[in-house]
Amino acid sequence: MASMRRGYGTKTRMCENLHRPYQRGFGRHCGCPSRGPYRRRVTSTEWLPWRVAMDRALYGPGGFFVAGRGPAAHFRTSVHASPVFVACLLRLVESVDRALGRPARFEVVDVGAGRGELLRALSLAAGQSPAALARRLRLTAVEKAPRPADLPPEIDWRPDIPADITGLLLATEWLDNVPLDLATPTPTGWHYLLVDPTTGNERPGPPLTPQDAHWLHHWWPGAVRRGEIGRARDEAWAGAVGNVARGVAVAVDYGHLRGERPVDGTLTGYRDGRQVPPVPDGSCDVTAHVAMDSVAAAGERVAGCAYTLVSQREALRALGADGGRPPLALASRDPAGYLRALAAASAVAELTDPAGLGGHRWLLQPVGVALPPPMAR
Ligand SMILES: C[S@@+](CC[C@H](N)C(=O)[O-])C[C@H]1O[C@@H](n2cnc3c(N)ncnc32)[C@H](O)[C@@H]1O
Repeated sequence: MASMRRGYGTKTRMCENLHRPYQRGFGRHCGCPSRGPYRRRVTSTEWLPWRVAMDRALYGPGGFFVAGRGPAAHFRTSVHASPVFVACLLRLVESVDRALGRPARFEVVDVGAGRGELLRALSLAAGQSPAALARRLRLTAVEKAPRPADLPPEIDWRPDIPADITGLLLATEWLDNVPLDLATPTPTGWHYLLVDPTTGNERPGPPLTPQDAHWLHHWWPGAVRRGEIGRARDEAWAGAVGNVARGVAVAVDYGHLRGERPVDGTLTGYRDGRQVPPVPDGSCDVTAHVAMDSVAAAGERVAGCAYTLVSQREALRALGADGGRPPLALASRDPAGYLRALAAASAVAELTDPAGLGGHRWLLQPVGVALPPPMAR
């Protein structure tokens, strides 16, 4: 059977060097110098289900995320964009700490921690917060890549999510990199798509299992030309929430809801700040938007209490990010203060832009505690 190539979805990741949204349009480049050529790490030709191919390409021996320079070398997430993001998360930490009655040990577990950027920044910021909280904070990075040599000793590093967490579990842009299967409609019903990892060419494979067919019909209905089966993400999130004993689990990611799923799917690739074809050969990131409502429902079943799903714009505003420009009068009174305030305002604007990072979704799942203000709705 002839192999098929697919179109490319819209993404919101940014060039590593330029603070410029990089979206809508495959193949355009912001102009930063590319560090290519890239070596393919997967070279054997073999038709694989996408979930297997993605897993090998990203996390197998020599995989893109475990062996390379780390996510920040290829695209920009909210974590890299500005300290404002971390300042807001610290406010969330403080409010969950209050809701938990200031436990003796408050854990922050960052799942899919990259090279530990978020926890390094949180550790620094917490050093300036009330000393009592700083002393009780325990920071744990969960990451498949090895521990960076320069990671501060106060940050624990491990490959799996610890059990019985009391505190905050964070997952920023983790779920979009959890490998998933893709499906295509055929005259005999929905079948898996198989991919050649060396080229990205695709062809239909066997019919879907009843569980995956059920997921697709329930969560991705309608006239779809390609389905992205989010069951593996649901399971990953349910597992993460299940490891929280008391506290809040927060997933921040780009995604979609039932009724607005893209008919052609969203799978795409990134390398060096550039959107590239999603060839699962280990040379690039391979990612797909997250079905946030199905993930949320899976976490809610485990937690036994209602979740909150808001845009990043709403979440950061609630946590005190103020994108307002400083008054011009400040420029003559305190020029340095004015410039600082202006820089902070433009960072907030980047993080809350509805067409960029501000359009990402925050899924907040409380466990054994009410979602504290300011996030309670
Ligand atoms: C897109 S990066 C996000 C990095 C960081 N959280 C940020 O927002 O900048 C996804 C990261 O998740 C890691 N990852 C994916 N699945 C994982 C898993 N099951 N356990 C640990 N780390 C995982 C990858 O290795 C990669 O570093």
